[in-house]
Amino acid sequence: MNGRTSGEVLVIGSGGREHALACALARSSRVRRVLVCPGNGGTTALPSADGASIEAVAAPLSGAGDLAPLIALARDRRVALTVVGPEAPLAAGIVDAFGAAGLRCFGPTAACARIESSKAWAKALMARAGVPTPRCQVFDDYTSAREHLRRVDHPVVIKASGLAAGKGVALPEDLEQAEQALIQIMVERRHGAAGDRVLIEERVAGIEVSMLALCDGRRARLLPAAQDHKRLDDGDRGPNTGGMGACAPVAVVTPELRCAVEQRVFQPVLDLLQAEGTPYVGVLYAGLMLTAAGPQVLEFNCRFGDPEAQVLLPLLAGDLVAAIDACLDGALAPEHVRCTGQAAAAVVLAASGYPGSPRRGDAIEGVAAAARIEGVTVFHSGTARRAGELVTDGGRVLSVTGVGSDLARALDRAYRGAACIRFTGMQYRRDIGVRAGQGGPCERAPAPDRAARESTPRTTMG
Ligand code: GLY
Repeated sequence: MNGRTSGEVLVIGSGGREHALACALARSSRVRRVLVCPGNGGTTALPSADGASIEAVAAPLSGAGDLAPLIALARDRRVALTVVGPEAPLAAGIVDAFGAAGLRCFGPTAACARIESSKAWAKALMARAGVPTPRCQVFDDYTSAREHLRRVDHPVVIKASGLAAGKGVALPEDLEQAEQALIQIMVERRHGAAGDRVLIEERVAGIEVSMLALCDGRRARLLPAAQDHKRLDDGDRGPNTGGMGACAPVAVVTPELRCAVEQRVFQPVLDLLQAEGTPYVGVLYAGLMLTAAGPQVLEFNCRFGDPEAQVLLPLLAGDLVAAIDACLDGALAPEHVRCTGQAAAAVVLAASGYPGSPRRGDAIEGVAAAARIEGVTVFHSGTARRAGELVTDGGRVLSVTGVGSDLARALDRAYRGAACIRFTGMQYRRDIGVRAGQGGPCERAPAPDRAARESTPRTTMG
């Protein structure tokens, strides 16, 4: 199915990542219209200022595994290319199903998406490929896992192996919290079957960065390093969220470090998957901890990050559709991931109650004023249109991205944009990117102090 996309493209998903994808695809001269299914309040019949129009379309889906309505939609609308945002449809085999139906679809197959949908499988893959990653043991029964927790003398991270909507990772501060997290995952089955297998991993200290690459099955071409801000509040405090902001590039990731990550992380994984007959085509996201002993892979994701996409896609200098076509045709070249050399910062505006139960239905004002600021784009996540009015409709409501010649300018623009926007209970961090020069937010391993007690285990959502 080699070819050159032309005409309509379809984006699957409804978040800020998918809005950023739609905007990047709409800039392509190869694209007439971008359909987004199901989309959000920002993708509803938008005439684009400098590219193709963007339009939200509905499909009668019963869940991430329900692929037939999407195939019917792609056929009915004569979609030339489908780009998948979230992990769930990738894990459910959307790329395989579209391929079998003769439709071009960008993303990894279900076999490759196991790199995210089965953390146990990903760990075994990393071991076989020699990729540096923290020590870990995998358990299928609660009693053995609990005994292991009581034996280890280092801080741990407990992970549900399967997909848990980003909520399956606990960072306990002590043994009591660790046992509580294990009970929630394995006994109470808070994440269902996703937690029937758990990983107990050594918690390592360092600077956390997100490195994403486009992959054509043989080669990975890295995008600039990005940094997510997972905690709700300034100073990396408060509960974990899906991500409250991002910036790129990250100063601590030098060209030498990028090269080392490409050679020691991405290439061995791609080589092994190709040798095993399941070449990886799509976006590969490595969540890395830069430790004193070098980079360690904490996780792989089989897709763009959110909010990382909202800072990386605006930095692409070239045509995203051409890059995707090159991935699908096994011909990805360095020029396909050429970037502008600028910096970008995204500030997430979240609803009151997030990350628990967000308020919905509040009127949003000021988006147009924000978007008029030079270098500012407002990407929608949890928004909807009710009788023509833009209202909140989810936890992370908007991402305000600023692009500038350096990070300081990008941040200034993003925050000036954020200051234009209002809705009841709006919350956002004021310190996105402030430490990016020194490495930015990080998860530091606590001392293995079992005497320290906190009430509940923290649970990550990213
Ligand atoms: N920002 C983290 C993720 O997308 O998984």
